[in-house]
Amino acid sequence: MHWTKRMAACGLALIVGVGALAAHGQNTSEGSAQTSSAASKSNLENWWKNAVLYEIYPRSFQDTNGDGIGDLNGITEHLDYLEKLGVDAIWLSPCYPSPQVDFGYDISDYEAIDPQYGTMADFDRLVAEAKKHQIRILMDMVMNHSSDKHKWFLESRSSKDNPYRDWYMWHDGKGQTATDKGEVPNNWQSDFGHSAWEWDEKTRQYYYHKFYIQQPDFNWNNPKVHEAFKDILRFWMKKGVAGFRFDAITTLFEDPEMRDDEALKDKDGKSYLNSYGDVAINDTMTNNLPGVHPVMQEMRAVADSFKPDVFPGTRVFIGETYLPNIAELAKQYGPPGKPEFQLPMDTQIGFINKLDVQTFREKLNDAETKLEGNIPLLVFDNHDNARLDVRYGDGAHNTEIERMIATMLFASRGASLFYYGDEIGMKTTPPTRKEDVKDPVGLTGWPKDKGRDGERTPMQWNATTNAGFSKNTPWLPVPSTYSTVNVSAQEKDHDSMLDWYRKLIALKKTNVALAAGDNVMLDEANTKVLSWMRKGADGSQVVVACNFTAEPQTVNLTGGGAGLKGSHAKTLLKSPGGSDAVSLEAVQLQPFGVYIGDVR
Ligand code: NOJ
Repeated sequence: MHWTKRMAACGLALIVGVGALAAHGQNTSEGSAQTSSAASKSNLENWWKNAVLYEIYPRSFQDTNGDGIGDLNGITEHLDYLEKLGVDAIWLSPCYPSPQVDFGYDISDYEAIDPQYGTMADFDRLVAEAKKHQIRILMDMVMNHSSDKHKWFLESRSSKDNPYRDWYMWHDGKGQTATDKGEVPNNWQSDFGHSAWEWDEKTRQYYYHKFYIQQPDFNWNNPKVHEAFKDILRFWMKKGVAGFRFDAITTLFEDPEMRDDEALKDKDGKSYLNSYGDVAINDTMTNNLPGVHPVMQEMRAVADSFKPDVFPGTRVFIGETYLPNIAELAKQYGPPGKPEFQLPMDTQIGFINKLDVQTFREKLNDAETKLEGNIPLLVFDNHDNARLDVRYGDGAHNTEIERMIATMLFASRGASLFYYGDEIGMKTTPPTRKEDVKDPVGLTGWPKDKGRDGERTPMQWNATTNAGFSKNTPWLPVPSTYSTVNVSAQEKDHDSMLDWYRKLIALKKTNVALAAGDNVMLDEANTKVLSWMRKGADGSQVVVACNFTAEPQTVNLTGGGAGLKGSHAKTLLKSPGGSDAVSLEAVQLQPFGVYIGDVR
């Protein structure tokens, strides 16, 4: 179904701005070739600014060949669904050839497709078919490390004078002699537990791995590594991909002096053990070192010079940027004239992991005021974190809470990224027995850390066997909830989570204030209800209120100096069963209820 028909079907008022229409390549003025070409040019340049981005974990989305593992053809099969949902671009978690130790984040060939997921022809078909749905494809780009089975590492470890030796991080042990390997070079730890140094007997040195032993880190001080990755970017851009999500990008560089990281202290000032049983340390020497900035500027220059005027238009760089504060996040956009990421993920907001009004207000306000006018990328969920139910649910109102999270995601200014299955309220389903664990994080961390399988279970399409995901036994079990929590059931239910997502996304695209308007916090002293206003360039205003408590609340949004142009509102969207807010002096909200209204 085409976009305009879809909006009409939603029964929403079509208050459409040029930006919103342009975002879907539609003409804004029939018969005006000039306006049309201006709109589509703006679309090609700016498509990402208000974009709805959807992360697919290919292994878990749809299996079409009956091997129990999702594949690229499975994604192509669901493009109608994704278009109807309002998705502008898919971020594909890695589907390159890989030994699958870290389920694709250990890449053994950056310019091919893993046969488990299909062929390069399947990939090309996905890009071409997605384009027909106005959906762009973004690749996951893992530049911090490769698989230990990548030909570059096989060369590197083959001898000390191999030309690829210096592509990875090799080091002598502390006190190493001709017969004794000595101690590991320093105390750096892998994010997946234990020392980040692995002894290699053949060439008698240690190599560094921030993640698994099978994921050796590249040496980004070597210019050849830079050139190799620029070629990889070009390879995929030639195939029509619209950009990249850069994995673990803050960890490209390590302290050149190899200094130890410091032990963390508990509240009594004592060091303690982490879930892997290691002494907990910080990562000051191995994370967020400044060298990453010039690298990203270099990569971005490659993308920006790559034919920007054909679909998919601007190539977008998304960063996996877990950072300590907003000032560090602001740096990821790059200094004036030297752009880095267009959309570094704002993990300050989505991973607060606690429903605290003041913290959300502060962090959302930071995204509005401290990113120097850049576009925030909001994200609450991904394949590395327990789903929303675990991190935000209270057990009794999980559905209402998940609606509220989706509201913050789509009704705030910026681009919005969400994870497959969130739109139907899929729940975290961790393994209950160690022998069922697939993610090595769970194997190393069991039982304290059960790993990431729980958030990677198969997509729940319908109530048939295996939730319609596969005709064979799925690689991870389908959660028992699938008979009710599935796409097919929710498509028929106008109060479903899927319906909520569709309506919110439709508003984000069609309502001028919600599409690109500024965010202004309202009622700022309130510790129970988070409310804000979006101010459209055309003078329109929309208020949004989310009740963060399990009790009903009534709020007055007219106080303060936010400049509301009226004291009444026309409802655009509200939680099922909620009241229409005729007067903004007394907006009534159910427990964890949401109200969105157009100010009159
Ligand atoms: C971050 C990815 O999201 C995660 O799944 C992976 O294990 C690490 N980076 C290492 O690539």
